[in-house]
Amino acid sequence: MKKKLRIGILFGGRSGEHEVSLLSAASILKAIDKKKYEVVPIGITKDGHWVTASDAHALLAGKQAPENPRLAGNPANTPTAAVLQRGEAVIIPPVPADSLQPLQLSATSEIATARRALHLDVIFPVLHGTFGEDGTIQGLFELADIAYVGSGVLGSAAGMDKAAMKKLFAAAGLPQTPWISLLRSEWRANPRACTRKIEAALKYPVFVKPANLGSSVGISKVHDRSELAAAMDEAASFDRKLVIEQGVGGQGAKPRELEVAVLGNDSPEASVVGEIIPGAEFYDYEAKYLSDASVPIIPAKLTASESKQIRQMAIEAFKACDCAGLARVDFLMEPAAKGKKNSKKPRIYLNEINTLPGFTSISMYPKLWEASGLPYKQLIDRLIQLAIERHQEKQETTFSRS
Ligand SMILES: Nc1ncnc2c1ncn2[C@@H]1O[C@H](COP(=O)(O)OP(=O)(O)O)[C@@H](O)[C@H]1O
Ligand SMILES: [Mg+2]
Repeated sequence: MKKKLRIGILFGGRSGEHEVSLLSAASILKAIDKKKYEVVPIGITKDGHWVTASDAHALLAGKQAPENPRLAGNPANTPTAAVLQRGEAVIIPPVPADSLQPLQLSATSEIATARRALHLDVIFPVLHGTFGEDGTIQGLFELADIAYVGSGVLGSAAGMDKAAMKKLFAAAGLPQTPWISLLRSEWRANPRACTRKIEAALKYPVFVKPANLGSSVGISKVHDRSELAAAMDEAASFDRKLVIEQGVGGQGAKPRELEVAVLGNDSPEASVVGEIIPGAEFYDYEAKYLSDASVPIIPAKLTASESKQIRQMAIEAFKACDCAGLARVDFLMEPAAKGKKNSKKPRIYLNEINTLPGFTSISMYPKLWEASGLPYKQLIDRLIQLAIERHQEKQETTFSRS
């Protein structure tokens, strides 16, 4: 019988999207084909402890992780990541070459045995936001030379930092609403000069955002100057870099929120286009997770040419950020002018790319693929396969001259 691939499902984490990650992971654990894969759930608690086995299940079930787990990443135990079973053993991703026994590991036969026993073929980081979606953990996987689902360090970091992402989109000629970026230190040193700069570049309403976050945390819609300072202070509490954008749709109207799922490595494909109708003035945290007033529509009502254009833009955005595996690409479209026939075509702007989008079976990303003919379970297979292909492809690279 063919050996089962051993898949580490990594979930939880230190970001504000910890709970969303638990939901995504629970969904994947339920759906993943247990005939093909041996699954190792690995949880990261909110304070950054790595737990596995029964403790990981407890974390998923909403129970607290153990009081005092031996900590992951303890340099006395392991040079890479350590995932600890309470008081027992260490699981780590394999180190690049087996002959290169890490210094501390070789000293501890118990740990070395656990490592052999718990080798992982692929890691699926079901982590959203900081420390999961931003390239940091991807760097760890690269160091460990392990195959993993999703984008690498650059794609993840670019997808997380809205200012960097926008520059890459601009370089690729993709349409975006006007925007500027300011540092928190600039804002704090001279709010009046910053206000002048914002008002010279953009028209109200504007959206003020921390550059690196997600789930709409720290984002405000600013209708006029009187609301600007509070919005800037709020965003500045979440990041050292701020992005200020002109609101699509103007004062009175909401933009249409369109989303496309992209899948693949070097030749990515786009799903059908979906639409979210947020049950709020904009798609804020509450509308995303706490109320059921937001309605997804799949496929979105668009003309064939609009839909084609959006799917093409999604693929270009994916490539512009050097993404891999999966990403959800989000758009803002001007609302159609009411009652006016022959008025000019509503403009479609790229909003952002999410490299590890929500992944419950009812999340937009899997739903879009399901509507495009790829069911959830097979989508998980495909992502694992893409992770392996990307890892194998990397073996073609020479890292030194000798
Ligand atoms: N320029 C904009 N014009 C209109 N609405 C916007 C704009 N930027 C953001 N929004 C609203 O705020 C939501 C969250 O913004 P987004 O940039 O997608 O941040 P996040 O990464 O937190 O999802 C969007 O889904 C949309 O409802
Ligand atoms: Mg968004």
